[in-house]
Amino acid sequence: MIEREKLEPLLRGHSIGSQIVCLEETDSTNLEICRRRAGGAGHGLLVTAEKQNAGKGRRGRTWVSNPEGNLYFSLLLCPSLEVSDASLLTPLMAMAVCAAVRENGVEAGIKWPNDVVADGRKLCGILTELFLENDGFYVVIGTGINVNQTAFLQELGARATSLYEQAGHFFDRERLLARVLLLFEGYYEKVLKEHSLAGLREEYEAHLLNQNAAVEVLDPKGAWKGVALGIDDGGELLVRREDGRVETVYAGEVSVRGIYGYV
Ligand code: BTN
Repeated sequence: MIEREKLEPLLRGHSIGSQIVCLEETDSTNLEICRRRAGGAGHGLLVTAEKQNAGKGRRGRTWVSNPEGNLYFSLLLCPSLEVSDASLLTPLMAMAVCAAVRENGVEAGIKWPNDVVADGRKLCGILTELFLENDGFYVVIGTGINVNQTAFLQELGARATSLYEQAGHFFDRERLLARVLLLFEGYYEKVLKEHSLAGLREEYEAHLLNQNAAVEVLDPKGAWKGVALGIDDGGELLVRREDGRVETVYAGEVSVRGIYGYV
């Protein structure tokens, strides 16, 4: 189990992780944050769980969350942003995870908008949810990182990997989590100040595996193919169609897949 006593000193004095709750088991750490928000919890609350019995993925999917030495955690953010700017927060956790993982010697990249991938397989998934309140809104960023998992079921193994698999050794989860959160906090503060991703675009694109890659845009109105060029200042993907027109692809509305494999 993630040890609160070990994590707390690593985050002391920071707003992210100003309150830390480490659970053995819950349905979903995202849901746990919502319940605690209803009970009065404030910005910066971090909830981790060793196991989730109803882990949520994007697009209504399930996130398998067995107690296999992974990280399942959610953050409560009450940003001083307009709701229309909340999507600026979506790429930040992927950047933080990717940077922390790379610092630990694992070659990883981002599959837009916010999957972290190594060796063509998924290492980390992020589910960002926004909830309106009477006088504003809050955001829950839920992150699952496959850390010390040593094996995957066959059907998952082709698409999923762990840091253990990539590096060949176990990782100290508290140290890794603290590093991810501190990197996240740096990006978050920058976005709050600038109300734009312009200042982080170069770093995001340096991690972006889709850049200059052939992609298929799975638009509910009809799939189409193009080449991903990078992101705009709002974090949306710019894709050049075969006829040369450049389109903006919004993360909430469509998904993108590689034509030659998952990325
Ligand atoms: C995805 O589909 O890629 C997103 C997966 C997000 C999983 C994490 S695990 C911690 C947090 N709690 C959840 O129920 N989901 C997120």
